[in-house]
Amino acid sequence: MTSRTSLNSWKKLVSHAEDMKSQHMNELFAQDSERFNKYSLQLPSMLLDYSKNLVTKDTMDKLMALARECDVESWREKMFSGERINRTEERAVLHTALRNRAKTPLLLDGENVTECVESALAKMKQFSDTVRQGHWRGYSGKRITDVVNIGVGGSNLGPQMVTEALKQYSDDSINVHYVSNVDGTQIANVLRPLNPEKVLFIVSSKTFTTTETMTNARTAMKWLTSASFDDKAIAKHFVAVTANKANAMSFGIREENIFDMWDWVGGRFSLWSAIGLPIALDLGFDKFIELLEGAHAIDTHFCQQPLEQNAPVIMALLSVWNCTFLGAQSQAILPYDQSLHMLSAYMQQAEMESNGKSVTWDGDSIDYSTVPSIWGELGINGQHAFYQYLHQSNNIVPADFIGSVESVTPVQGHHETLMANFFAQTEALMSGVNEQQVRADLRASGRNEAYIDKVAPHKVHKGNRPTNTILMERISPYSLGCLIALYEHKIFVQGIILQICSFDQWGVELGKGLANNIQKELEQGSVNMQHDSSTSGLMQFYLGVLKK
Ligand code: F6P
Repeated sequence: MTSRTSLNSWKKLVSHAEDMKSQHMNELFAQDSERFNKYSLQLPSMLLDYSKNLVTKDTMDKLMALARECDVESWREKMFSGERINRTEERAVLHTALRNRAKTPLLLDGENVTECVESALAKMKQFSDTVRQGHWRGYSGKRITDVVNIGVGGSNLGPQMVTEALKQYSDDSINVHYVSNVDGTQIANVLRPLNPEKVLFIVSSKTFTTTETMTNARTAMKWLTSASFDDKAIAKHFVAVTANKANAMSFGIREENIFDMWDWVGGRFSLWSAIGLPIALDLGFDKFIELLEGAHAIDTHFCQQPLEQNAPVIMALLSVWNCTFLGAQSQAILPYDQSLHMLSAYMQQAEMESNGKSVTWDGDSIDYSTVPSIWGELGINGQHAFYQYLHQSNNIVPADFIGSVESVTPVQGHHETLMANFFAQTEALMSGVNEQQVRADLRASGRNEAYIDKVAPHKVHKGNRPTNTILMERISPYSLGCLIALYEHKIFVQGIILQICSFDQWGVELGKGLANNIQKELEQGSVNMQHDSSTSGLMQFYLGVLKK
């Protein structure tokens, strides 16, 4: 397969990037009063403004030409129709089928995926209603009040991010907790205040082999059975979500308590499946469906809009532009809505586990820089922590600012202050302030020339730092579904442009394998000297064999 670098559109972008590096967005805004109108899009439940990127019409045309040369549209068709685009695992990629609210039939290996999804949703509804209405009871006949989701990565981040974001929509009839870390501190802290008679555990693991999850699930089972003195309690207190039914059953979970997953759903794209069970238990099944409907609205947008009006395509191209062509190495996700406090952590897995790779689909080395590292924090907290770096460091960090027009929890005066900061930050990052202006301001405030000479260079903000702004109408199950699906498709398009297989994650395997072997050595108390001297020295110190 030819490298992307040999495409005409790619070559043109390389030389165009050199020209654009000397431009400032201030000039682009000054030259075109219609810039916001041209470079913003109204989407279901939100507005995307990408005008504060270092792009012109020429840039966008060239990026669209790249998307066409990379066949983005036909890849999109392949994904939605169930072709095995996850090549290294030989799997289809059909998380979109989980939220296909049009319920159009989709055949995969002779099976109608839509029917599987509908029957899984019916089981989720039945179960979540029964628990929420108090018909499902614990071993001693008490109502379930607490749900503990045990899972990690995609089996944790999605449901936790969503239930945190939608707290205001919960009737609080069920408290949902999450255990992902194998550090016993987390499960101990979660279980300490809980009454085993009233707790339901969900063991969420697509593979049902993940060591951390299995260890936590075993601890939870021991905690329950030592309180109930009865192994039969497990049937009332343990359910599983997995694509590996056999493992879940041999772990001790009843067949009827197992919710299906499929190999055509990647872990980090799985919150739309029964992995989202904590969402349905916390908020009610109807809210879970609203979440799916939001995602479906963006799926429809992604499938139907021309590339020039297609938000995931535009966001992916801008990321490639900023990172591969202009050289940015990281990207910040900065929510200005407390509800979205886990969004950056979620996006880290979504983008970095998908596209943090360095070979093409065919296994050839990639000779261009691929995706940035993703990081972020609630915007206001970030302003008082790391925004200094965003404004003045030599490294440019493109950032996505995400806020809401309306607060779900209005407290007088707060939202205006929050949003004033939201708008101010992207304006400051874009326009900056030059030395002349800094000097004029200092003079106007009565400072002497010696002081001005000393301080002025420190107060200069070069600006020209790219941001996207996503302004949601309001956080709701529907709009959150839209937001997550928007990023999912952005990541998919990014992968296509960069020739990356976005749906495998081989890079997590090496560490897992080594940890398994090392654990055996730690249990035996002896270090296999075939490790490098650093690793064996550290292990010996840990075991108390080596004293420094
Ligand atoms: O180790 C990475 C990973 O495989 C993720 O891709 C996945 O979301 C997570 O572990 C959990 O996997 P599982 O659901 O199989 O326990």
